[in-house]
Amino acid sequence: MSDNLTKRWSGKWALITGASAGIGLELAKQLAAGGTNLVLTARRVDRLQKLASDLSARHAIQVELCPADLTRPEAPSEIFHFTQGKGIEVELLVNNAGFGAFGYVHEITESRMAEMIQVNCSAVVGLTRLYTPAMVERRHGDVLILASVAAFQAVPFNSAYAATKAFDLIFAEGIAEELSEFGVRVCALCPGSTDTEFQGVAQQPDRVFRSAETAEKVARVGLEGLAAGKSCVISGAKNRLMVEGERLAPRRFVARMAGKMMRPEGS
Ligand SMILES: NC(=O)c1ccc[n+]([C@@H]2O[C@H](COP(=O)([O-])OP(=O)(O)OC[C@H]3O[C@@H](n4cnc5c(N)ncnc54)[C@H](OP(=O)(O)O)[C@@H]3O)[C@@H](O)[C@H]2O)c1
Repeated sequence: MSDNLTKRWSGKWALITGASAGIGLELAKQLAAGGTNLVLTARRVDRLQKLASDLSARHAIQVELCPADLTRPEAPSEIFHFTQGKGIEVELLVNNAGFGAFGYVHEITESRMAEMIQVNCSAVVGLTRLYTPAMVERRHGDVLILASVAAFQAVPFNSAYAATKAFDLIFAEGIAEELSEFGVRVCALCPGSTDTEFQGVAQQPDRVFRSAETAEKVARVGLEGLAAGKSCVISGAKNRLMVEGERLAPRRFVARMAGKMMRPEGS
């Protein structure tokens, strides 16, 4: 991280959801290298424990673990009570945890759909609602929300996932404007395909991930965008160009092209 970033959160606390893998894990590593204390959450405790011991051995920081399953509606308030109980003032909230569900909308199970909306949308709003009052009161604090380039268009065979990411983007951009007068910064980070466990979890085809970016790069772009006061940042020149191009094309055409790329094998 650059010096500017290092100073911004050095000695303060960041809470990262989805810290056990992918972009969340990289965000944890980069923030730790900049001297930020961390509250890490995800379901896989063994992964969190290993990350915590690696990071606290390498950097002079404190790390707290708060394992939680964000499909449970109570999880955001349980995480909040955990940090309150420890007297931790969260300066940076990273709403990163999320997953996709690939396939025809009528074939994805109702429970998987509901869980995806809970993790990708409701938990994001829940945690943001819990942590922003203190930020507003002390007139500083930052929120990073993982959206996606999928937030800018319809993505057939990933329709509900893309809609959750559109929700995240619009939510982030709205509250960025609302909270700026209180010194609270909010940024939506919009990656394109990124080399993480996401593809396997969503069971998406390989062809979509051929030109994937690294999680390390995406995490850096997100922290830089947030520190620069941007309300939205798209990672990668190709992805930025794609999003710009989509604005000019008819929406139906964009959806049809995406559908051709995403169509499940043999369907
Ligand atoms: N990879 C991409 O191509 C891409 C592109 C655009 C946007 N994004 C967004 O980036 C974010 C991070 O994804 P990633 O690519 O890093 O994926 P990943 O490698 O699969 O990591 C996802 C993280 O979310 C956590 N998570 C998933 N379900 C959870 C649950 N029910 N409760 C608590 N934590 C949960 C996972 O932890 P546990 O399994 O241990 O709980 C894991 O730490 C997501 O919001 C995703 O939508 C990814």
